[in-house]
Amino acid sequence: MSFARENILLVGFMGTGKSSVGRRLARKMDFQFVDTDRVVIEEAGMDIAAIFERHGEAHFRELETAALASLAVRKLCVIATGGGIVLSERNRELLRELGFVVCLTASEEVIFERVSRNSQRPLLQNENPRETVSRMLTERRALYEEAANLTLDTSLIEHDEVAEKIASEARRAFSWQAQL
Ligand code: S3P
Repeated sequence: MSFARENILLVGFMGTGKSSVGRRLARKMDFQFVDTDRVVIEEAGMDIAAIFERHGEAHFRELETAALASLAVRKLCVIATGGGIVLSERNRELLRELGFVVCLTASEEVIFERVSRNSQRPLLQNENPRETVSRMLTERRALYEEAANLTLDTSLIEHDEVAEKIASEARRAFSWQAQL
């Protein structure tokens, strides 16, 4: 394993805890927390639902790639990404260049329960969000695995404990890297 930079990237499906684990992890590592969805929102000057509605998903994906590319100069960051970041090959390449990539997973039931608490996600605003979650998980699973240096299931573990596990793995990976 070798990393171009000391950043930790969190990838994974919606509702796997990337943002809440990411904030805790950043505190533990004394890294800065960045969220690609927030970078996109700030650049676009509107929220994600509005971007999808006015400009469509393809435009959102372009903004998302630009947001990830804009972070290429950063180091010592925890970067939480949107659930669809792994869809593009360019993004998967950028993730590898940016640092240590951790994939958060959760069971389909836990994901559905978590995303049901928040109605902001445009891809789940349809008649059968449960089936959508199931289909998208099947479509994306291999891509998350391909992108990740480490995968952790967050279904049954507190976010703080997940952050602790990532911090210890990342410290090990970064110190190993420093010896090369
Ligand atoms: C998306 C996930 C969302 C957001 C957008 C699209 C996806 O981010 O980027 O709604 O394609 O899975 P979260 O994973 O943070 O919810």
